[in-house]
Amino acid sequence: MTGSATKHGRGDAGMRIEKVGVVGCGFMGAGIAQVCARSGYDVVVVEDNEKMLGKGMAVIEYYLGRDVEKGRISQQERDLAWARIRGSILLEELDDRDLVIEAIPEDLELKKTVFSELDQLCSDRTILCSNTSCLSVTELAGATGRPGKVIGTHFLSPVPRSKLLEIVRADTTDDDTLETVQRFGRSLGMETLVASDTPGFVFNYLLCALIGAAVRLVESGVASAEDVDRSWTLGMGHHIGPLALADFNGLDVGYMVARAMHERSGDPCLAPSALLKEMVESGRLGRKTGEGFYKYNAER
Ligand SMILES: NC(=O)c1ccc[n+]([C@@H]2O[C@H](COP(=O)([O-])OP(=O)(O)OC[C@H]3O[C@@H](n4cnc5c(N)ncnc54)[C@H](O)[C@@H]3O)[C@@H](O)[C@H]2O)c1
Repeated sequence: MTGSATKHGRGDAGMRIEKVGVVGCGFMGAGIAQVCARSGYDVVVVEDNEKMLGKGMAVIEYYLGRDVEKGRISQQERDLAWARIRGSILLEELDDRDLVIEAIPEDLELKKTVFSELDQLCSDRTILCSNTSCLSVTELAGATGRPGKVIGTHFLSPVPRSKLLEIVRADTTDDDTLETVQRFGRSLGMETLVASDTPGFVFNYLLCALIGAAVRLVESGVASAEDVDRSWTLGMGHHIGPLALADFNGLDVGYMVARAMHERSGDPCLAPSALLKEMVESGRLGRKTGEGFYKYNAER
């Protein structure tokens, strides 16, 4: 878990990464910062304000403690990882970073503004990454004067348990940046795959098409939500069905992502169904509101 020269691939072709920046310390940013620090990187994580920063840092501290409790890392590894993470509310504190990962909300204009600011303050060699789920990485690259050094790093949740980093190559990303980020992903203990910059890339395209098909089966009365999920859990041996997963993620989030991906691609597989829209508009958002395709109580 410590950052050795070998682990970070020093001496290989491509750029050497030691200092990592993370913008946004919410659900994903906190996980990304934690994993990077655990893998030996010096991490600065930047939030919008002190309150959110305090919250995000507390989450990182809590989950590092849980890693020790569960025997995933030793107390010493936890202490070293925690010492490697610094929080700030100033984007300028990222000016010495080798690689910066943006993990702010899924809003193209907001992300473009941050990319443009990072471009102004970081050195020319800094690689700028986005954790976007479905926005165009090429458009983000266009907001900078270094389009060759912009790339998508789509971490999956929960980041500390995830074994996969989906790398999104923008139309402009250069070979050196791609190679460096692939090596960076492996140094975090993850396998990497490279996708081109299309709506949803690989993982979210598959997920969105699957959940969309499951919703349409219920909508058209082919089977109940329970039976659609059972076909997947029993037939495929997965621990959760697509509709229970949609409830877990939040139907509003699923609807927003499907709509954005459909608007960008026109692909009918991605079109959110009328049933999903109706559920979102009536406030049935899944687990978080107590009802979606299933009903939930406090114990469930
Ligand atoms: N939630 C998931 O399961 C998931 C999975 C993969 C990718 N993503 C993507 O990751 C990104 C972040 O998602 P999330 O779920 O962590 O969102 P989140 O809302 O939990 O966290 C976003 C954080 O960014 C902060 N922020 C907003 N503007 C900022 C700014 N200008 N500077 C610094 N911080 C700022 C917010 O205060 C918030 O804490 C999105 O692009 C999302 O699509 C999410």
